[in-house]
Amino acid sequence: MFSDRTNWKLTRNRLTEALEQVRSTGARVLDLTISNPTRAGLHYDDARILQALASPKAMDYDPQPKGLLSAREAAAAYYREQHGVRSFDPEQLVLTTSTSEGYSFVFRLLCNPGDELLVPKPSYPLFEFLADLQDVTLVPYPLIYDHGWQMDFPSLRKAVTARTRGVVVVHPNNPTGSFVHAHERQLLNHFCREHRLAVIADEVFLDYGLDQTAPSSFASNEDALTFTLSGVSKISALPQMKVAWIATSGPPVEVEPALARLEVIADTYLSMNAPIQFATPALLDQRKSIQQQLLDRVLGNLAELDRQLALQKTCGRLHVEGGWYAVVRVPVTQTDEELAVDLLRRDSVLVHPGHFYDFPSDGYLILSLITTADDFSEGVKRLLGTVGS
Ligand SMILES: Cc1ncc(COP(=O)(O)O)c(C=O)c1O
Repeated sequence: MFSDRTNWKLTRNRLTEALEQVRSTGARVLDLTISNPTRAGLHYDDARILQALASPKAMDYDPQPKGLLSAREAAAAYYREQHGVRSFDPEQLVLTTSTSEGYSFVFRLLCNPGDELLVPKPSYPLFEFLADLQDVTLVPYPLIYDHGWQMDFPSLRKAVTARTRGVVVVHPNNPTGSFVHAHERQLLNHFCREHRLAVIADEVFLDYGLDQTAPSSFASNEDALTFTLSGVSKISALPQMKVAWIATSGPPVEVEPALARLEVIADTYLSMNAPIQFATPALLDQRKSIQQQLLDRVLGNLAELDRQLALQKTCGRLHVEGGWYAVVRVPVTQTDEELAVDLLRRDSVLVHPGHFYDFPSDGYLILSLITTADDFSEGVKRLLGTVGS
């Protein structure tokens, strides 16, 4: 009765089962996987956010496939003001309810069934479901760790076939926290032009760079057809508001038809609602207070992790340039999943095993750096107590 594309293995993994069991005993679990910022003890301007959702203008229905101009203007201003993309024009934007929806529009635009997209590995696990739903085949290209993460261009070249339509980059990547560096961007543009491929750049964590130098946005990328995805889910830490976008840039002969086709895809769904579009300028404005809180949290937790790592010799962490996660290297005495289950049962600490993100081998745990400071510190102490012993 059902399509092959939805024939997923729907059984719960061992970690989820163990979590339910431990919670059913009443134990308080220290959750070091938290990615939901609305449950991370941040201070939001509730009144301003809720007030913005009640604009009387939302009583008029004005179906605009790319989204209301006032909302697109606000997103364009974000690129101009925060990322110095001076010439950024709201006409380059198509609003969507989430980055995930943005991905699906772009996959639909570029790919016939069975066409291929090159995706980084390790990276964000949602890609597989998005690709299944759009009948797209994902072909991984490795990121290699050698004093920091790097894109492996020889592997990228080997992975390209006549069916390849684009290269996905996550800038910075989740969970490795690595940006696409300027020289890599140059090589990527050259590669994409040579093979007539699009760049799909996921920049949801772009504003969370941990160094002083702000990495540049792909929204300014003109050398290859580029779809830059982002939204308020991370920019303003408001995932429940469902405002995201696709920013299209590149050679005008490719951008124009791409935008015209994207507009038809968006027109088919018209998924943005009016109150949220009128609220978008205020929601984007929230980033000015929320990003500082998150950066303070991330940097504080990273410093605490380093402090505790320095007290032992068994574990270390990989270099991180941005985003909300840290990768801890642990000795391989069992699989990462077994270790994560043990930590949960023994210490009531929840962490993600590296294999959730397609790490090529065991020996990696992923910690969320937006966990509250007390839970993070206690969780790391218990983790190192167990793994180090
Ligand atoms: C790299 C990356 N892209 C996209 C998303 C999803 O963003 P959205 O909530 O806008 O769909 C996430 C969510 O954590 C993510 O980690």
